[in-house]
Amino acid sequence: MKNISLNIEKALGAVSKEQVFAQEAKVMACMATLHNGDGAGNDFLGWLRLPSSITDEELTDIENTAKTLREKCEVVVAVGIGGSYLGTRAVVEALNNSFDALQSKRENPVLLYAGNNIGEDYLYELTQLLKGKQFGIINISKSGTTTEPALAFRLLKQQLEEAVGKEEAKHRIVAITDAKKGALRTLADQEGYKTFVIPDNVGGRFSVLTPVGLLPIAVAGYSIRDLVKGAADMEKATDQSVPFADNIAAIYAATRNELYKSGKKIEILANFNPKLHYIAEWWKQLYGESEGKNGKGIFPASVDLTTDLHSMGQWIQDGERTIFESVISVENPDHKVIIPTDEANLDGLNFLAGKRVDEVNKMAELGTQLAHVDGGVPNIKITLPEISAYYIGQLFYFFEKACGISGYILGVNPFNQPGVEAYKKNMFALLNKPGYEKESAAIQARL
Ligand code: PA5
Repeated sequence: MKNISLNIEKALGAVSKEQVFAQEAKVMACMATLHNGDGAGNDFLGWLRLPSSITDEELTDIENTAKTLREKCEVVVAVGIGGSYLGTRAVVEALNNSFDALQSKRENPVLLYAGNNIGEDYLYELTQLLKGKQFGIINISKSGTTTEPALAFRLLKQQLEEAVGKEEAKHRIVAITDAKKGALRTLADQEGYKTFVIPDNVGGRFSVLTPVGLLPIAVAGYSIRDLVKGAADMEKATDQSVPFADNIAAIYAATRNELYKSGKKIEILANFNPKLHYIAEWWKQLYGESEGKNGKGIFPASVDLTTDLHSMGQWIQDGERTIFESVISVENPDHKVIIPTDEANLDGLNFLAGKRVDEVNKMAELGTQLAHVDGGVPNIKITLPEISAYYIGQLFYFFEKACGISGYILGVNPFNQPGVEAYKKNMFALLNKPGYEKESAAIQARL
């Protein structure tokens, strides 16, 4: 089976191939730091060998729990935010029928999301929708105290208990959280919910291949074994024993850091397939939280093309030259659509009649790449043979491995996120949370 591949040829110009390859020693040293576990944040390296160490029993336990939820529920709400949300959605939106919500004959329960925002209307509409429906909840929170999911869970738990009774609700709620500590662990133990553990040494943004992602993905009906297999194959393909020139995680990390040093401060992850939108959302958290610290770090942005060529396209082509682009290119779509002939040909598209829609998309992709490169936007290409659980597994691990290496090249701890606390402190102070009296007084004085 083919692997995903990386091509940096069109990124060369702003930086040379020699410059990228001159980083070999440094990059492989950063890779060794990861593997030896002697760098910053080394208590969060559980993701590194996760794909190859997941056991058959663990996968079976997840699949059996998914089966129970699938049998009982027409809707399952995955409650979580950040690393406890984005990986699941990335896989499900990539593999789902684009019009899943409107499919009348369903094999799988509808997977909905909550706890990823504090929109009152969102929660109102969700709770209204769930009225009269058989639903279940997967509550995912490592800390158990994150405001957004805790708030959503409080509402949904109450609604479920009122609808089916406290006893039955216990069989429709699964908690994914810390092994020992935290509010969600305490509640789950008290209520007797089925639980799965988020390992201590796996941070939120690296947790998609733990039950955090695997359970809701299995509930949605996708093969978590293929996903894990893809990741495990990429774990091998990017191992430290694989030479720099053949190691796509090392080359990607080296190239983006050289581009950053040359003044390219923004990386835009682009796709030409709308199904990959949430892959980019997941990627932005992974790189943004891992690298954006100590006044440093590439800003991760994303676009869906060709859609955004009609909005952001102008900026990318012609704006400040501080960007580079990484394009996820999909070789083979799942389905074939042939463009029909039209007698009147008022739109002038008969020259395309008989061609596949994907041929047009591929030429849009190539044309865009050449235009952007001509416009001074270096282009890295990541090719996915197809959108499948197996290749998404490969893609996840490729990006995670490159991210760990990249953070070390940059000289930051890629596994902490001290910056995410600032807004929470202010929000709690403004809401007069007990324990925040001093902060409340200070913030009120500023208003
Ligand atoms: O990366 C992180 O640590 C955060 O973005 C978390 O993923 C997010 O805040 C969710 O945290 P928790 O799972 O503890 O609710």
